[in-house]
Amino acid sequence: MYILAFESSCDETSASVVEMSEQARTVKSNIVASQVATHALYGGVVPEIASRAHIEAISSITYEALEQAGLTLSDISAIAVTNEPGLIGAVLVGVNFAKSLAYANGLPIVPVNHIKAHVAAAYLDQPELKPPFLALVVSGGHTSLFKVSSYTEYEEIGATRDDAAGESFDKVGRVMGLPYPGGAAMDRLASEGNAKAIRFPSPAIPDKTLDFSFSGLKTAVINHIHNAEQKGVELNRADVAASFTATVCGGITEKLGLALEETGMTRVVMAGGVAANSHLRRAVATLCEKHKASLFIPPMSLCGDNGAMVGAQGYYEFLAGNLGDESLNGYPS
Ligand code: KG4
Ligand code: ZN
Repeated sequence: MYILAFESSCDETSASVVEMSEQARTVKSNIVASQVATHALYGGVVPEIASRAHIEAISSITYEALEQAGLTLSDISAIAVTNEPGLIGAVLVGVNFAKSLAYANGLPIVPVNHIKAHVAAAYLDQPELKPPFLALVVSGGHTSLFKVSSYTEYEEIGATRDDAAGESFDKVGRVMGLPYPGGAAMDRLASEGNAKAIRFPSPAIPDKTLDFSFSGLKTAVINHIHNAEQKGVELNRADVAASFTATVCGGITEKLGLALEETGMTRVVMAGGVAANSHLRRAVATLCEKHKASLFIPPMSLCGDNGAMVGAQGYYEFLAGNLGDESLNGYPS
């Protein structure tokens, strides 16, 4: 079946057509209208501007997604949309657009959780992947570990108690003068530095839980940068980026290793924007090898927010009968 899917929970408006069946999981089109350049002027996402930009983009990218897929609305069997969590004004643009389109065309509407959608991105190019597995979601808004027992059943077994991993990359990047969002630039800079140059506090909470805390690490790095400035010491930015990144990777792999031991799972999915980080990809791959677990990471093009991942999860929600109706709403968390 063909699913038309929408994503508008943060700063990317996306419309996609995916073809899903028991045999095939194919992206027919995946149009992403990014607002990153607009928000970069403010050093972060401005919710009101995000909502307006979604309204401006959503209609034209829908036509584009259908055209690129070589299909019309009459070929579509269901409409999927992210309805939680996210910036509420932004989420509501997608929800209301998708609902209107579904109603006008007599199509079922399928609400999709954004975090599950990030994980579902891994199904799209890896046909052998099926639950149960352990999912690590690392994005700008979330850092969580889930026991995924079926395509639709997720149990959160660990999470950040404050900042998300991506948020800490962006905040440290900003203080280092890198362009917003800092994640990708930090990734490149870290490759040029010494990861052992500076010791920072781990984001793995030192207890038996599978929880994280990134705020102490973020503050320690920012203090290190400010101290150097105040003392007039020249800062080796590459060493800071490398040491910070290694600390993030160390903390995440520590809790992921614990989660593998506790759950006995043999498959891991790592998803979300920060899953694009080359250092984290290597660290998690090494950990999984050590634990003899198979690792699945979506392709780079599907790590950030996009409609195709919403379509993939939408298919499984549709099969499970988790449909919305005209009263479907959006939720911030
Ligand atoms: O999943 P995503 O597109 O949006 C949310 O749902 O939050 O994630 C965006 C986050 C941003 O914080 C961005 O800086 C981070 O992903 N990111 C990276 C990299 N590419 C994107 N962080 C570290 N290294 C990267 N290569
Ligand atoms: Zn996301």
